[in-house]
Amino acid sequence: MPKILIINGPNLNLLGTRERSVYGDTSLETINRNAIEHGTGLGYEIATFQSNSEGEIVDTIHKASLQYAGVVINPAAYTHTSVAIRDAIAAVDIPFVEVHLSNIHNREEFRRTSLTAPVCVGQISGFGPTSYILGIDALRSIIEKNS
Ligand code: DQA
Repeated sequence: MPKILIINGPNLNLLGTRERSVYGDTSLETINRNAIEHGTGLGYEIATFQSNSEGEIVDTIHKASLQYAGVVINPAAYTHTSVAIRDAIAAVDIPFVEVHLSNIHNREEFRRTSLTAPVCVGQISGFGPTSYILGIDALRSIIEKNS
């Protein structure tokens, strides 16, 4: 069974209690459970990883190409700041889809720039937890097109 990894960046471990007017009240655990169920239904094994640390995310990206057919990533605040995560994505040879719960393009100016989206196949932003489901579907279409 091909494998997809979902990477979540800083503060996303607090989903469900964090800024609920922006991010809603669904916990990361529920988002992950729904993603695993959705992926399994499509014939994919879904693994999940969350870290608040930039270096751990970089290390996880480096190892991802050994095990996974592709990655769905919500880099969270690192989206807007991390050249290191951008370079890690560019360095590995599997497709990435960037997802966001909120629509980063209708929020503060600093959120409108993504350093990571240009090295991903594309970006899905603004659909709440459904962004992850759409991300898996988008990644699957790329994986299956390439195989
Ligand atoms: C986010 C948007 C980012 O701007 C923010 O820093 C996050 C969450 C989202 O999923 O909407 O932590 O990535």
